[in-house]
Amino acid sequence: MNKIIIGEQIVKSFGEGKERHKVLDRVSVEINEGEFVAVMGPSGSGKTTLMFALSGMDRIDSGKVAFDGVKLSDLGEKELSDIRRTKMGFVFQQPTMLKNLNLLDNIILPTVRDNRKNTTAISEKARKLMKRVGIGDFEKRDITQVSGGQLQRAGICRALMNEPKILFGDEPTGALNSKSADEIMNILSEINEDDGTAIMLVTHDAKVAARAERILFMKDGIIVNETKTSKFARKNLENRVEKINLKMRELGI
Ligand SMILES: Nc1ncnc2c1ncn2[C@@H]1O[C@H](COP(=O)(O)OP(=O)(O)O)[C@@H](O)[C@H]1O
Ligand SMILES: [Mg+2]
Repeated sequence: MNKIIIGEQIVKSFGEGKERHKVLDRVSVEINEGEFVAVMGPSGSGKTTLMFALSGMDRIDSGKVAFDGVKLSDLGEKELSDIRRTKMGFVFQQPTMLKNLNLLDNIILPTVRDNRKNTTAISEKARKLMKRVGIGDFEKRDITQVSGGQLQRAGICRALMNEPKILFGDEPTGALNSKSADEIMNILSEINEDDGTAIMLVTHDAKVAARAERILFMKDGIIVNETKTSKFARKNLENRVEKINLKMRELGI
């Protein structure tokens, strides 16, 4: 199986002098192409820091991260940002969007910036994605005229415009009610299964993590455990959630 990400012995510290502490303490992690991995752990355990390290959003102190066969520490800022823009997609708790642009224009903005000639084709692609995630009728809406769940769908569309190899999500359902969260998770699962887009999802919600093939459990900057499930077992979400909660209690997280 080809690896999209190989992280080896990653160390990342924050703070100065006596305050300095390791937030990632020799973390090694590999993600296969097309795999759906969730990272769980308490607040402050290093989940976001790990996601930033693996996506090249942040430099690491030592260790190694290879993305799609390329060692990230060998790259300059421009090359790094090119890789992030063309091969990775990002979804955060709330999408950052411009108030004076409608939903469609917000979605296409980063892509149009890269390629001003193909605006029509880019818009068409965005419309297809919007339809696919259920916001096909909202292209002209202001970002203030849609719900949190609809805005997050638009964020997902924007993240998918370049057909990324992997989608990184940092608590993408964290600001949503449980119905909207379920809908967003249905969309993400479908993108993973139908398009083969790998997903790395940071969450502290067992119900969200239950959708993943593999769950990494983090505690104090270390991956302390992981579980893997079959597609079949994931169909029974409630049962899976129970097992995850049990595991977390066992691990004391
Ligand atoms: N930019 C930063 N500067 C200083 N400390 C940071 C920074 N980012 C994260 N930290 C610290 O690193 C630890 C892990 O943070 P984070 O990775 O955001 O945890 P999680 O996502 O699991 O909640 C926390 O103690 C946090 O305060
Ligand atoms: Mg976080």
